[in-house]
Amino acid sequence: MTAKPKVLIANWKMNLGVTDSLDLAKEIKSLIPASGKTKVRISASSLVLPELAKLLRGTRIEVGAQNVHWAESGAFTGELSVNQLREVGATFALVGHSERRNIMNESSDLCAKRASGALLQNFNIVFCIGETLTERQSNQTEQVLVSQLTPLLQTIKLDCLGRLVFAYEPVWAIGTGKAASVMEIEHAHSTIAKVVSNHFKQANPLIVYGGSITPDNFSEIAGSTFVDGGLPGGASLNASKLLAILNILEKSTE
Ligand code: PGA
Repeated sequence: MTAKPKVLIANWKMNLGVTDSLDLAKEIKSLIPASGKTKVRISASSLVLPELAKLLRGTRIEVGAQNVHWAESGAFTGELSVNQLREVGATFALVGHSERRNIMNESSDLCAKRASGALLQNFNIVFCIGETLTERQSNQTEQVLVSQLTPLLQTIKLDCLGRLVFAYEPVWAIGTGKAASVMEIEHAHSTIAKVVSNHFKQANPLIVYGGSITPDNFSEIAGSTFVDGGLPGGASLNASKLLAILNILEKSTE
């Protein structure tokens, strides 16, 4: 099996306006080494994507959206298509983030439709899944991961996997300051890998972890062979913390 690349995805959520996003991106651009083994992505507000893509053109940092629609175009008020995102320089989108699933009530079927539509248009997708605290406490973690993954895996083809990154983000760890333990992460990541390979035998999926990642807790997490990268939210709003997280990932490939 070939070695998998590592991936770092910064999720800025709805935190920064255009000016602040560009200022932070300039700082990140000046700090991050021009090349390295880790793929670096920033998921920003769609409003800033055109300027952000211009600013980061020619660097190793890719920019992407926080959601995407499945259709190529049409009467879908408030949505963004792959074509629209591509035109402004975005190369990927998150889909199924827990804030979309739990606050905006996006179902696993809807998330699967978004992701598979975009994947079929050759777009890159970071597909987020994870259980709530109640689900974990009632021993339903595996079941939840299976139910969030299955609608997607049933609608895509093997060749889509190259454009797909899975992000395990337990809801109880997001923005709470309480990251999952390495054991919990390894169990979830191996469940995800198993479910994916039940659908696609040859699969070797990329699975990153997200949920209260900091430079202080990430070395242990990134040291696990089950972890292919990280998806920091809060910590990604600080250029030096993001650089420190990137350095941990780079070290983990040595
Ligand atoms: P957090 O967010 O790092 O602030 O917990 C992670 C995410 O929601 O993607």
